[in-house]
Amino acid sequence: MKASVRSSWSNAVLVCAKCSKKLEGGFGPRGKTPLAKALRKHLGLKKGRKGAAGIVEVKCLGVCPRGAVTVVNGSASREWLLVPEGADLDVVAGELGLLPDRHPDECRDLVPNCASA
Ligand code: FES
Repeated sequence: MKASVRSSWSNAVLVCAKCSKKLEGGFGPRGKTPLAKALRKHLGLKKGRKGAAGIVEVKCLGVCPRGAVTVVNGSASREWLLVPEGADLDVVAGELGLLPDRHPDECRDLVPNCASA
């Protein structure tokens, strides 16, 4: 019995949908796009499991920061990110390790404390 399916995801990122809703989006050019959608668009990710990485909106993660969105990086789940409203998406993607082409050289410039740099 085959009880699994393949995906192209190199990583899974969980983004709190309720935080995004409280910010009425908070990202993108007009500040109206939710972080998950803005990140997917910024990185040109395909939908569903065909994408190079999965960015998934989930229910409240219980942190509930003001003016920020809680994000869990599946490959570094012991430390969660609190992404401030309107944060630079290159920096966020770098911190989540979602910039494979530019990592680690340019990542070092974008994310001063990047663990992989
Ligand atoms: S509302 Fe986002 S962690 Fe609770």
